[in-house]
Amino acid sequence: MTHPDFAHIKSCVFDAYGTLFDVHSAVGKHRQRLGEHADAISMTWRTKQLEYTWLRSLMKRHVDFWQITGDGLDYALDTFDVDDAQLRQDLMDAYLQLDPYPEVVDVLRQLKAAGLHLAVLSNGSPQMLESAVNNAGIGELLDATLSVEDVGIYKPDPVVYQLAVNALGVEAHEVSFQSSNAWDVAGASSFGFRVAWINRFGQKTERLSHGPHAQLATLAELPAVLGLTTTT
Ligand code: LAC
Repeated sequence: MTHPDFAHIKSCVFDAYGTLFDVHSAVGKHRQRLGEHADAISMTWRTKQLEYTWLRSLMKRHVDFWQITGDGLDYALDTFDVDDAQLRQDLMDAYLQLDPYPEVVDVLRQLKAAGLHLAVLSNGSPQMLESAVNNAGIGELLDATLSVEDVGIYKPDPVVYQLAVNALGVEAHEVSFQSSNAWDVAGASSFGFRVAWINRFGQKTERLSHGPHAQLATLAELPAVLGLTTTT
């Protein structure tokens, strides 16, 4: 049965990093070379990357997500005393070919077959997103791949979410937005989307003004929320 908040959905819009693509798969490919601090380096990299998006947006000092991702990695490597230019290069290259989460392709196919319009809406630069989408083999399933570079500010600024409304020609409440990032969930919900939090890591509820309309363990549960199947 369709979740009541998702009764008028025409488009499904997906966050990219952490939601469709496993950001920790970059470090995963070079785990041996990074040693015992590999997981801590990956966590620091991701945390700093996100902090720099918020800080630069507030400072009005935008640079694209490729630059931000490199800056976050440099901070993380410095923190753990890793000084290896080739390894840094290999980690950045790996970020262009992140693994999709295992359910992603099947779920997108199912949604597309049901006649929904699908899009990615991400902080990523157009080149980064094109690479990740092609690597995952989901390009032909997407109606649009939307980057914050079109507005020059990062999520959760409302102008970013407005990009999807404009591109897809729908009302905000006709969009089901999926993100694993709880702060992105808050931003998208505040904007007016119907929001499914893909809480992959069992995180606690954020104390912010707006939260998700549904909380799912993986994207595999989304078709049921949208009333496309009776099983989850
Ligand atoms: C993105 C970040 C939030 O893809 O992961 O926009």
